[in-house]
Amino acid sequence: MNPVDEAAQYLRAHLPSLPETGIVLGSGLGAFADAVEDSTVIPYRDIPHWPASTAVGHPGKLVAGRIAGRSVAVLAGRAHLYEGYTPQQATFAIRVLGVLGVGSLILTNAAGGINPAYRPGDLVLLSDHINLQGSNPLAGPNHDAWGERFPGMTFAYHPPYREIAQRCAAGLGFVLQNGIYAGLLGPSYETPAEIRYLRAIGADLVGMSTVAEVIVAVHMRMKVLAISCVTNMAAGMLNQELDHQEVLATGRANAERFEQLLRSIVAHLHD
Ligand code: HPA
Repeated sequence: MNPVDEAAQYLRAHLPSLPETGIVLGSGLGAFADAVEDSTVIPYRDIPHWPASTAVGHPGKLVAGRIAGRSVAVLAGRAHLYEGYTPQQATFAIRVLGVLGVGSLILTNAAGGINPAYRPGDLVLLSDHINLQGSNPLAGPNHDAWGERFPGMTFAYHPPYREIAQRCAAGLGFVLQNGIYAGLLGPSYETPAEIRYLRAIGADLVGMSTVAEVIVAVHMRMKVLAISCVTNMAAGMLNQELDHQEVLATGRANAERFEQLLRSIVAHLHD
């Protein structure tokens, strides 16, 4: 059996019910997993073939249960390309959720702000992305049961979900910015010249995740919503070096607001 099906089979046997909505937590958001009710917690290491997450701030567990009455699978920890994972490994979790029948996917991440209107702590709804990771997770033979050879990406960030997210943010009194995410390989942060280049090609944010996951989710016809927390202004925008500890601290400082928004979005997603 292929590794994705094996992992899916393991989860079918260990979860009391199948999730409809997948939620991937970025750095600093791990506490959101505690908001899951009637939860079943499965450490990644127990799931066949599931890549371990090695990045600081990514504990590595799947928490299935309910949030606001919806059946969810929360992934606390993701595999990044910069950890040395292949594009297939980095998107393994998304494939498994797709095979389990998850139809909506909410991705969160920490990102550097390129748009000068952003401030650290801002939450930004992704409207599009630019793939600069140097790979595409669909390269190689296409598995027709999963999706088509040439999936369109025009509506990758499901417009009705974006409207729902905007309404939820307004209801909570937040400003939810909109932006285009440039996904890079990392793990070094960008140079100031790279940030000027990214701004020139239309990016508002830069990060090291999400893009490959979105491509795989769209391949599997999932409806995707993605939100970034601006944890820092991108390199060269302020006259200071980037500091990963600061990135994590800003993520944590804004986690509660982010989690409130996520909860509200999950509650309204299928309205
Ligand atoms: N660049 C890339 N990835 C990031 C950044 C950044 O400035 N901040 C958080 N993730």
